[in-house]
Amino acid sequence: MKRIVIAGGTGYFGGYMIKKLKEAGFEVVAISRSKKRIAHLKLYIDELVIADISNPRELQGIMKDADLVVSSVGITKQKDGMTYMDVDYQCNKNLLNEAVNSGVKAFMYIAALNGEHLRDLKIMDAKERFVDALLSTKLKAYIIRPSGFFSDINEFYKMAKKGRVYVLGHGQFKANPIHGSDLADFCLEKLKGAPGSYEVGGPEILTQIELAEIAFDVLGKPVKISKIPLVMACVIEKLVVLMTKQTFYGPVEFFLTVLTRDMVAQKYGKHTVRRFFSTQK
Ligand SMILES: NC(=O)c1ccc[n+]([C@@H]2O[C@H](COP(=O)([O-])OP(=O)(O)OC[C@H]3O[C@@H](n4cnc5c(N)ncnc54)[C@H](OP(=O)(O)O)[C@@H]3O)[C@@H](O)[C@H]2O)c1
Repeated sequence: MKRIVIAGGTGYFGGYMIKKLKEAGFEVVAISRSKKRIAHLKLYIDELVIADISNPRELQGIMKDADLVVSSVGITKQKDGMTYMDVDYQCNKNLLNEAVNSGVKAFMYIAALNGEHLRDLKIMDAKERFVDALLSTKLKAYIIRPSGFFSDINEFYKMAKKGRVYVLGHGQFKANPIHGSDLADFCLEKLKGAPGSYEVGGPEILTQIELAEIAFDVLGKPVKISKIPLVMACVIEKLVVLMTKQTFYGPVEFFLTVLTRDMVAQKYGKHTVRRFFSTQK
């Protein structure tokens, strides 16, 4: 049996990954800063470590005898006042340093699709700096580069529920978002093979208009879509970057960038957007 230390288990993807690792027979050690937020996964966790990964001292010794570390730690909607560099880079670097010191052989990191081409975004810069750090070690590095998650496209469903969906440009940019469960299957599949960098998306390539139409259809509501001209999105982004702190503008800059280009990767998985929207309240 392999002993795996996983960080990020309280998050959207990490929860699926913990379940799948346990079901596949791994010994699961989960690191969380909150006992309460990870309580729903206790059946799938062999050892729970409550630690603040921003403090390297709290990580000392916790990776003893571990074969692999998996991290999906990163800022998505957290409002702790921490920057991407504090979390996406430094917290993961603290995990990596401990893995190196403990003689762990492999590290799997959830990066992002096209991150290496979008390094001018604060989030991607922090993530790619961590990828560079990981690749500079002798550990076997599994770098997973997913497209958007179903947890994020849920925003389309929420807008449709309120009666109107806003899309950028003509709404024709395409993406193939992936469900957390499918992504966890993909990660387990990759762990059986050679280390490397792997791009992945879900089974359906959809435009923003198509996402909106599916959401309205599931809700049984008339389709109402407003198009935000790209030039306006660009002005909004520039103003927000100029006038707000990085902890605010970082997510805005990220979403306005990924929603104004195609974000399509190799298709994988079976979960459809329609089915996912049907399960939302
Ligand atoms: N969402 C997407 O569309 C998407 C697409 C491509 C790549 N990714 C990347 O995939 C990874 C996982 O995404 P996700 O949607 O599963 O994210 P999520 O649900 O927000 O989970 C992020 C995890 O990181 C932890 N974390 C955040 N800030 C922390 C801090 N200061 N100290 C300790 N732990 C902290 C969270 O712990 P707490 O519960 O304690 O906050 C949580 O376990 C992220 O790195 C994200 O950038 C996401």
